[in-house]
Amino acid sequence: MDDKKKLRSQGWFGKTGKDGFIYRAWMKNQGHPDDEFDGKPVIGICNTWSELTPCNGHLRELAEHVKRGVWEAGGFPLEFPVMSLGETIMKPTAMLFRNLASMDAEESIRGNPLDGVVLLGGCDKTTPSILMGACSVDIPSIFVSGGSMLTGKYRGKDIATSDIWRFSEANRNGKMDNDEFRLTEAMMCRSDGHCAVMGTASTMACMVESLGVTLPHNAAIPASDSRRKVLAHLSGRRIVDMVKEDLTLSKIMTREAFENAIMVNAAVGGSTNFVVHLLALAGRVGVDLTLEDFDKFSANIPLLANLQPSGKFMMEDFYYAGGLPVVIKELREHLNNGAITANGKTIGENTEGIECYDRETIGTTAQPVKDDSGIAVLRGNLCPNGAILKPSAATAELMQHKGKAVVFENIEDYKSRVDDPDLDIDETSVMVLKNVGPKGYPGMPEVGNMGLPKKLLAKGVTDMVRISDGRMSGTAFGTVVLHVAPEAAAGGAFGLIESGDEIELDVANRKLTLHVSDEELAKRKAVWKPQDLGVNRGFVKMFIDHVEQADKGVDLDFLKGCSGSEVTRDSH
Ligand code: FES
Repeated sequence: MDDKKKLRSQGWFGKTGKDGFIYRAWMKNQGHPDDEFDGKPVIGICNTWSELTPCNGHLRELAEHVKRGVWEAGGFPLEFPVMSLGETIMKPTAMLFRNLASMDAEESIRGNPLDGVVLLGGCDKTTPSILMGACSVDIPSIFVSGGSMLTGKYRGKDIATSDIWRFSEANRNGKMDNDEFRLTEAMMCRSDGHCAVMGTASTMACMVESLGVTLPHNAAIPASDSRRKVLAHLSGRRIVDMVKEDLTLSKIMTREAFENAIMVNAAVGGSTNFVVHLLALAGRVGVDLTLEDFDKFSANIPLLANLQPSGKFMMEDFYYAGGLPVVIKELREHLNNGAITANGKTIGENTEGIECYDRETIGTTAQPVKDDSGIAVLRGNLCPNGAILKPSAATAELMQHKGKAVVFENIEDYKSRVDDPDLDIDETSVMVLKNVGPKGYPGMPEVGNMGLPKKLLAKGVTDMVRISDGRMSGTAFGTVVLHVAPEAAAGGAFGLIESGDEIELDVANRKLTLHVSDEELAKRKAVWKPQDLGVNRGFVKMFIDHVEQADKGVDLDFLKGCSGSEVTRDSH
């Protein structure tokens, strides 16, 4: 059989002599019959399951449903674990390890006898990390997201992860006591799955569906809904055919697919983290994507999904309204409808017959939820290589604002002074947080949406302009400028801001300006010193030495591109 000769796995299991014996014999200790090794497509199930990644805690069970589909289609499924990144648990920030996890996925896929891969992810970083790794190998791959949690319930009201910020501010200003605050924990996280709003995990689930690397409906089916298992099962069936068709990631993740993903992200009000992850993916698969593309391709796209944190509803409601295919269908005038997807059909063909069941949850381009959407890319002397802001999460009156900087040199400085009653700050100030970028923290944590000072919360202030070289949680909101590049630790002008400097934000004109003369900045630069983080070994040292800035996707410079799937030397 010709197919048998083409299968990568036959480079292991199809061998004769001592090598073939070794490749097969040890596998047989798991009870696999001999004919499993005789030319069936071997499908890896790359699993980010971990009890330390609570959003992915159900992925072991989901993998069993993938296996059913693989077996039905005549494949041979083999599940393997990769490094898993629990957003809420890992210190100092899960983002520090996204590239490390991608290396794990890449080498695990390449080094093993796999013809195709089903990628199982859910929590924020688990999706981009394993997809980045898979892109660098480029064998047929399909993504299955874990799905979101059911909507939280608190005293008869719907709640979700976005409410953390509201609850914690209510707790800080004395409107919710500590016992009540703690009571809400279990009410918010009451089922399997990732955060129940359009936070980063749901954004990533939409990203993979709009890129075309999943079956339709992947993004919105809740984790606890039996149709999530059906999707896993069908994805298991489909990957076997993808191997036969040699439908690799690079054939799906084209420039057109990336443009589609940017437009869909704008329409769903996706997280700002989308920017760094999509840029990193483009770098792996060899698509030329720039920060400006995010502004350009989201420019005419209104917000269609009325989902928290930009809107009102939860991911569960999004699914019942028809899910992402409704949004994709609504955007057909804008999208590259001919982009091929994992099921072999185009993204346009996949929306034939799709209906919307709730126009309050998913608007139309004629009657959108909001006109503002997408990502605004800012430039100026403060961020020559760019910074971003999410207009749909910001306060309209603050989008044009001039104010005096109140500078925090790092996160510890912010925490120690923000609630100081003597801090010289009012609602017109611009809060600046330095040294939370890729190199400076290191790892670019989600602290850019700094909580407001207690004394201003007590006055009823709900939003202020905040600027940092870090990221913000996809569940957060506010007039928050993020991803300033170059970051403070890389010697950019951002590191030279002092309290009292005037900063001007002008979103309409995409400008962020530090009103300090070039002469004064040159004087400050002459005495500026890079901080010493005291890191001299291990992955963190390698990360600091090789990480690229936010405008390039925060990947390691030597991981760009694809090494392919070939392994020329045997292990014996
Ligand atoms: Fe895992 Fe939000 S913390 S998805």
